[in-house]
Amino acid sequence: MKAADKDDAERKQVTVLFADVSGSMDLAEQEDPEEWREIMQRFFSLLAKSVTRFEGTVDKFTGDGIMAIFGAPIAHEDHAQRACYATLQMLDDVAEYAGELRRAKGLNFSTRIGINSGEVVAGEIGAGGGSAYTAIGHTVGLAQRMEALAEPGKAYLTEHTAELARGYLDLHDLGEFEIKGASHPIEVFELAGVGAARSRLDLARERGFSRFVGREAELRRLGEALNRAKGGEATAVGVVAEPGIGKSRLCLEFSQGCRAEGLEVFEAQAQAHGKSIPFMPILQMLRSFYGIGDQDPEQTAREKIAGRSLLLDPGFAADLPLVFDFLGVPDPERPVPKMNPEGRARALADFLCRLVGNPARRKTLVLVVEDLHWIDEGSQMMLHGLIEGMEGTPTLVLVNYRPEHSPAWGESPAFEAIGLQPLDRSDTAKLLRDLAGEHPSLDGVDEPIHERTRGNPFFIEEIVRELAESGYLEGDRGGYRLARPIEDAGVPVTVQAVLAARIDRLAADAKQLLQVASVLGKEVSGDALGMAAGLDASAREEALGELIDGGFLYEAVLYPERVLAFRHPLTREVAYGTQLASQREATHAAAARAMIELEPPERHDERAALIADHLKQGGETLEAARWSARAAHWAGHSRPRDAMRLWHQTMELSGELEVNAESDALGIASRLAQIQFAWRVGMDLEEQAQLLEEAEEIADRCGDIHSIVLLKMSASGRPGLQVHTDEWLEQVEEMIRLADQAGDPHLQVAIRGAGAYAYLIAADFAGFDRTLDELIAIADGDLSVGAGIILNTPLSFAEMGKGMVRREQDDLDGAEPYFERALGIATAAGDPETASWVRSNQAGLMAMRGDVEGGLAVARRNCELTERIGDVFSRSLALANLAWTQLAAEEYQDALDSIEEADQIYREAMKVGGEMEAWRSQLRAHALIGVGRTEEAVAEAEWAVRVSRERGLRWSLPIALLALGRARHAAGLGGADEALSEGLDVAKETGGLTCVVEIEAERKALASAPS
Ligand SMILES: Nc1ncnc2c1ncn2[C@@H]1O[C@H](COP(=O)(O)OP(=O)(O)O)[C@@H](O)[C@H]1O
Ligand SMILES: [Mg+2]
Repeated sequence: MKAADKDDAERKQVTVLFADVSGSMDLAEQEDPEEWREIMQRFFSLLAKSVTRFEGTVDKFTGDGIMAIFGAPIAHEDHAQRACYATLQMLDDVAEYAGELRRAKGLNFSTRIGINSGEVVAGEIGAGGGSAYTAIGHTVGLAQRMEALAEPGKAYLTEHTAELARGYLDLHDLGEFEIKGASHPIEVFELAGVGAARSRLDLARERGFSRFVGREAELRRLGEALNRAKGGEATAVGVVAEPGIGKSRLCLEFSQGCRAEGLEVFEAQAQAHGKSIPFMPILQMLRSFYGIGDQDPEQTAREKIAGRSLLLDPGFAADLPLVFDFLGVPDPERPVPKMNPEGRARALADFLCRLVGNPARRKTLVLVVEDLHWIDEGSQMMLHGLIEGMEGTPTLVLVNYRPEHSPAWGESPAFEAIGLQPLDRSDTAKLLRDLAGEHPSLDGVDEPIHERTRGNPFFIEEIVRELAESGYLEGDRGGYRLARPIEDAGVPVTVQAVLAARIDRLAADAKQLLQVASVLGKEVSGDALGMAAGLDASAREEALGELIDGGFLYEAVLYPERVLAFRHPLTREVAYGTQLASQREATHAAAARAMIELEPPERHDERAALIADHLKQGGETLEAARWSARAAHWAGHSRPRDAMRLWHQTMELSGELEVNAESDALGIASRLAQIQFAWRVGMDLEEQAQLLEEAEEIADRCGDIHSIVLLKMSASGRPGLQVHTDEWLEQVEEMIRLADQAGDPHLQVAIRGAGAYAYLIAADFAGFDRTLDELIAIADGDLSVGAGIILNTPLSFAEMGKGMVRREQDDLDGAEPYFERALGIATAAGDPETASWVRSNQAGLMAMRGDVEGGLAVARRNCELTERIGDVFSRSLALANLAWTQLAAEEYQDALDSIEEADQIYREAMKVGGEMEAWRSQLRAHALIGVGRTEEAVAEAEWAVRVSRERGLRWSLPIALLALGRARHAAGLGGADEALSEGLDVAKETGGLTCVVEIEAERKALASAPS
């Protein structure tokens, strides 16, 4: 199984160059075509030579010029610099040849060059055998426009290239230009020559170094190595780390210290584009050893070389011709003996070895070689020779390189490697303070920046710069203010260039694995990764090894399952961004298949949401809808908010499918489920109405009786509706009839479970009890019958309801075992929602039976547990019950707080008060009496009574009347006994014995109280 039928095209950051030979059309008329062809051929070859020298690709010949790409197919982190160097060489070469033509034939030629950098899609494009590697995109067009804009003999480049090449090259700002096809004016630069910077650190120096932080331990180790060297024990140290971690800076800080001590330090720098220029680092080192400057005349240079060499050892006289020649200042008097290149290199290595190892040399010598991973073979060989020859001399060789490199002398006992780690949080914070400042608005910026950069100082610097440039930060370096919250701030192009180039240099399998991993997530299982990438175990291991060694991934977990994670979020972003959308899609689909195959089936529920997500992004809509529904089901019991989101997703996915039985079923189920969650967590009423309407339409079309009944129930027979209970009961009875007609026990049980609630609210305890008995009979002991359709566990609910009936009839002992059974069933079914309702009732019962403290403890614990579920219906209920228990404990202020919160969260989510609003209101009235706010208590109780009457909320009516009687009495108002006696009548009528007992007790108390 392969991730995709591999389309090799990729998104890449590149620099595109257009060069043409201008004025050619009218010139063509003056010349013989054959001769003309030869001239053009020569121009083309000059242009192409420069491109190849800097490892660019000649994309095509355009008739009178060429188009070239730098950074594709193989990415180079310095693609912009390479294009510029190639350009400078083209300008030189063409000018030289044009001069020749002018002198010989009187012809006038010149070239114009345009350069731009940015993203392209690069790959094989074309049909059949005629396809060729090329790049496509806006970036290409803009490069061509630069060429058209350029004056003869000049090279123009855009701000995009300038951003990457600045410092390394000398650029003249020409100002902004309106460019056709570009949405905003583009800043254009002329390329004037090479710049002063040779490395990123030079650039950093130019901008002003950030304050050096941390690295105490590493500096100490370098100091120890230096001491050994001083004592004549020559030592080589390698500082190893990924780009940007601070190798160069550490070496710089150290070598500055050495210079301050008066030691001799010589430096050499290997460069990314330097492999094509052999021996560059060694040349640099020798030049600085002999103190030769760029401006020195040849004679002076030779004198310096001879002087210093002979002073050390007159025996070096014989080597001088070779050294002169090597350093580019050959002595005409003393020609070099004929040698083949290899022999020459060996002779030079030998010289170097004797130079460093010369016993006459007393002073400690420190040699620093930067970026060894880019060193050419010749230099590498010489360096190796030097290290072998330095034994017994006071020499310290300090090199640095990236983890993918290993130096040729790695096994030498004189060599020690220091792995440099990223900056820790506190050093990162210090660096950030230095770069960004201490303005209070920057509080909270550390964390996201650390998250993205993971202590890589180069990334930190670039991200701060990027944030300033894109307006997130305002002010000046070291004194920024946060202008707007940092969200998606992209990857700076400079960082992107480095990361993309590293990724490109991976072996094909490793690169593919990394790309697949970037699609799968921040952390991925090794097995799933291998499978999604279509690699067998051994190929996968090899590729993973390369990625881990190179510091791209690390093993976050080893047991029970190997999990790999990205060392750097930015690496992931870049690896993700290099793929075409179509490739990512295929990878997502492959990832989902791998998960399904690799995970044991018992974990499928748990993984369903993730699998659905991959399938969705993989464009497999039907499968995605199925898995999304599965995930929603699974979340249902305990995570209503997730369930709501997943059902919503299922609905949207099902809407994309062609209409058939399955998509209809998914369409109805997903809507029904959302409506069921609406009364639990709240939902906009309009949205609810719309869901209902859509679902009814589908159900009608399919003649799906089951769903039609459930939908009707949702429309007119569910909790949370502001209707009279008589109307509600009528609907419930109708639904029960329809369900019985349909003869589906699941439906019969589901409707009875949800519908029974209406009897309770209407204080029809007999009807409540009867309906629950019917439910229990139909379910016949099978927990799964009707479960999860409306209520999660109808049987648990039925036991609880029967317990409530006993309680209302003042049979407190009889109620208890029902509650216990109900809780047992809910717990066994893993249904926290029904369990919450049961515990509320248990708490109340305990308080009624005199265990007020115990009741309070249960009610409080229940609130905590219910909070975790995250639905509003149950939470409000749990809080109201806590209030009830607090009243029993005479904790009136606490009770008031609880009930107000219960009411507030319900109203906020549902926009209405629902069927329990009068119940909550009478609790609030009681609490208000308790805290002595009697007038408010009267008003509250009056409201509770009125609403209970108007809406037929007969369960709350007698207690609301009880509250009213108490409140009036407490407020010293008349009419207390009228209210109580009416309450007594209602309670007797409904058979609410508990209530009767309570009201009678209150009347007695009132009668005996002094008025
Ligand atoms: N310890 C440090 N404290 C402050 N800035 C640092 C530190 N290490 C590196 N930097 C800065 O981060 C950038 C990258 O460091 P550099 O040494 O060029 O990385 P590397 O050589 O590993 O690619 C430079 O601008 C450098 O000044
Ligand atoms: Mg460096």
